[in-house]
Amino acid sequence: MRRLFFLLTLSVRAAVAYRYEGSGYSYVESHDVDYSVQYTGSSYYVDYKEPRWCYPLSIENGDTECHSPRGANYRSTLGTRCRILCDRGYRLLGRRHVECTVTRYWSGMSRCKEVRCHSLPAFPYGSFVCSKGTRVDSECEYICEQGYQLEGDRTRVCQENGQWSGSEPICVDYEPPRIKCPGSREKVAEPGQQTTRVYWDSPRIKDVADKHSTKIVLRGPPSGSEFGKGEHIIRYVAYDRERNKASCKFTVTVHVRRCPVLKPPVHGYITCTSAGNNYGATCTYTCEGGYERQGISKRVCLFNRSWSGLAPSCVPIEINVDVNSVAALLDQFYEMQRLLIISSPSASDMYYNLQMNMLQEAACGLELRQTTVIELVGNPPRAVGRIKEQQLSSEIIEQLRQVFYLSSMQFNAVLVDKYGADRERYIQPVASSELFPFIDIYLLQKEEKTILQERENFCN
Ligand SMILES: *[C@@H]1O[C@H](CO)[C@@H](O)[C@H](O)[C@H]1NC(C)=O
Repeated sequence: MRRLFFLLTLSVRAAVAYRYEGSGYSYVESHDVDYSVQYTGSSYYVDYKEPRWCYPLSIENGDTECHSPRGANYRSTLGTRCRILCDRGYRLLGRRHVECTVTRYWSGMSRCKEVRCHSLPAFPYGSFVCSKGTRVDSECEYICEQGYQLEGDRTRVCQENGQWSGSEPICVDYEPPRIKCPGSREKVAEPGQQTTRVYWDSPRIKDVADKHSTKIVLRGPPSGSEFGKGEHIIRYVAYDRERNKASCKFTVTVHVRRCPVLKPPVHGYITCTSAGNNYGATCTYTCEGGYERQGISKRVCLFNRSWSGLAPSCVPIEINVDVNSVAALLDQFYEMQRLLIISSPSASDMYYNLQMNMLQEAACGLELRQTTVIELVGNPPRAVGRIKEQQLSSEIIEQLRQVFYLSSMQFNAVLVDKYGADRERYIQPVASSELFPFIDIYLLQKEEKTILQERENFCN
């Protein structure tokens, strides 16, 4: 029998260090060993007594369970079979079992890799804190921002399989917004009106959760509206994103201050602006034709609910015809009466008679238009002049004709306004259907027009 003997010397340290760097193996100590293999012809005879045939197996973050044919103290002898176990939180990469082979290397490579869960996504309206980051057994606790409530799993744990337990919770805004309305207010209607404009600031909103997405709905008229007498309720409703609702209200009360209702004077009447007796209303006193006002013409309803001034009265117009000059006569009509001065050559003049007939029928309309008729008839020395029943002296008759350019030779007439200016002339009798519209359009003051409209049927 031929026997072959080999004698090999290996420096295992360098080879192992290179080959397995970073692989998870680490050898504990260097071991330069000499060993012998005898080739028997059909197989190698290996000396199992060598305790460190392979380098000692050491697993980072794991452990090994080895069984050697030589017993527990020969953990890296040839034929030793090891099961590799990873620590909790680590997962095996490579073979579960390795064996120390005749080549003095373990039969495979394995390592334990740390298991990590994925990073949890950012959490809307809240945050989370994890005990060990994304490592196994890390517990993450979720909390919601103020004003939100957590719904779902409060904690999630990174499991051994690299998955988080449970599912992501959500933060729900349960809290309704807080809304504060402006204060209730009372206002007095503006002067001469029965309404007033009321302004206010928008309500103040506080929603802890939704700072910007709160919607406000107004129930009622907006700020700056005109408000009439009485109490008005303004309501605001606020909704947050989750449709949580809150509302508030306030009132706007408008008072219309009123003066006592004015009574018209005897032989006169009053016309008032706006509602007649509300704060700021103005009432104008007018006397019927043939009467003149004694006292102020207008009274205003004051804020303290009383009328300004004292009530005037209407007294019969008394014209003093015993005056020296036409100026003194006309002064008595100044600002009070219009004049229709009719001049005729004789009492039997056809035009004159026609005119007087027409004016008699229109007497009421003339009074309404505050127009006094003066007749000048005939020539001196038999001239006759009169204002109603009062006779004028021949000097006044003469002067009137001169002042107003009235001819004594034929029928003619002149219309004089309240300020003594002649406004229209007639050389033929003038009918009320012509005279009245002229006065109404050109001579009446604004208030007189109003009064006339109100009392148009007065003469019928
Ligand atoms: C109302 O006010 C006016 C002027 O402001 C005053 O003259 C009058 O006496 C007051 N009337 C009352 C009832 O207070």
